[in-house]
Amino acid sequence: MQFSTTFSLMTMVAIATAAKSFGLVTIHSGSMFQYAEIIGHDNDPLLYVGSSSGSKTGNFVLNDDGTLSDWNNKKIGINSSGVAGEVGNGISESKDFGVSDEHLTYGGKEVFVACPSEDQKGYVLSVKQCDKGTGVSLRVMNSSDVKESSSSTTPTTTSTATPSPTTLTTAAAPAATTSSSAPASGECNFGVVTIKSGSQFQYQALKKVDSHPHVFSVGGSEGSEVSLTLQKDGSLKDQDGRGIYVDPSTGEFGDVDPWGKEQPSKSFSIKDSHLVFNDKDSFYACPSGDNKYSLSTKDCTGGTGIALHVVDQKCA
Ligand SMILES: *[C@@H]1O[C@H](CO)[C@@H](O)[C@H](O)[C@H]1NC(C)=O
Ligand SMILES: *[C@@H]1O[C@H](CO)[C@@H](O)[C@H](O)[C@H]1NC(C)=O
Repeated sequence: MQFSTTFSLMTMVAIATAAKSFGLVTIHSGSMFQYAEIIGHDNDPLLYVGSSSGSKTGNFVLNDDGTLSDWNNKKIGINSSGVAGEVGNGISESKDFGVSDEHLTYGGKEVFVACPSEDQKGYVLSVKQCDKGTGVSLRVMNSSDVKESSSSTTPTTTSTATPSPTTLTTAAAPAATTSSSAPASGECNFGVVTIKSGSQFQYQALKKVDSHPHVFSVGGSEGSEVSLTLQKDGSLKDQDGRGIYVDPSTGEFGDVDPWGKEQPSKSFSIKDSHLVFNDKDSFYACPSGDNKYSLSTKDCTGGTGIALHVVDQKCA
């Protein structure tokens, strides 16, 4: 008896201090680093900010000893110039990582900078200032509050994600009320990150691409990250003040046309940290070209059901 009590106490302690797994999304509003990912490339130990073709990304794990591991299960360290990457070759292990207020910290502070890489092809992640560097916050996408679309029908998720969606929504309701109590009175500005665990659409930004503003891209290296404002009438506008239009026949989701013929769609809301349209939090990433995907409210050939997770919400 006594033994089992001790055992369960120890189990509880073990759970309380268990390593934390999460995705990372960069925040720096008004810059090209708003809602970008932390990525890696084959045969290159460094961590980069942003997306580019052939890149890899995934969850990070913050270990109890303050070390951080990446999706390759390799420890992340810092070299003497402050550049972050997988340990080895001048990059030494660090135990200074932490999470505070849902942001990644280093030495207890938010010190991250996107620095132009030596080959000028991208931006490396650093903990020290650098020439032409841009400070970024690294927002932790906590897997315990990042939920799949509640009406997702794609049966690829594990059994833990499947228990009756209604129960999940009810259980999560108190938390949602606290976080979304402000919106009722004013307008809320926010970013969105796509959610579909185990797929390439986990933590992708929505992108507005100049050649097709009427339909946003899901991820990809073209265009700029979309940020949205939910207005009192249930319509949305983007960072350039353009209204958002959902084509009722195709489901394509993007800016209203520039000729003033389309009215912004209404019936948008935020529920449980998800963007909701006509009471549904299900959206689709539809193939639209070579490794390109567009955002739709309707399923399509080769489409993947995704949720749009609201991040960095600020309400007036
Ligand atoms: C740290 O890594 C960066 C990126 O590879 C490199 O430019 C810099 O020279 C390295 N610093 C040292 C002291 O090796
Ligand atoms: C994720 O959320 C849970 C519950 O809200 C919290 O206990 C945990 O510390 C969070 N993890 C991170 C990494 O912030």
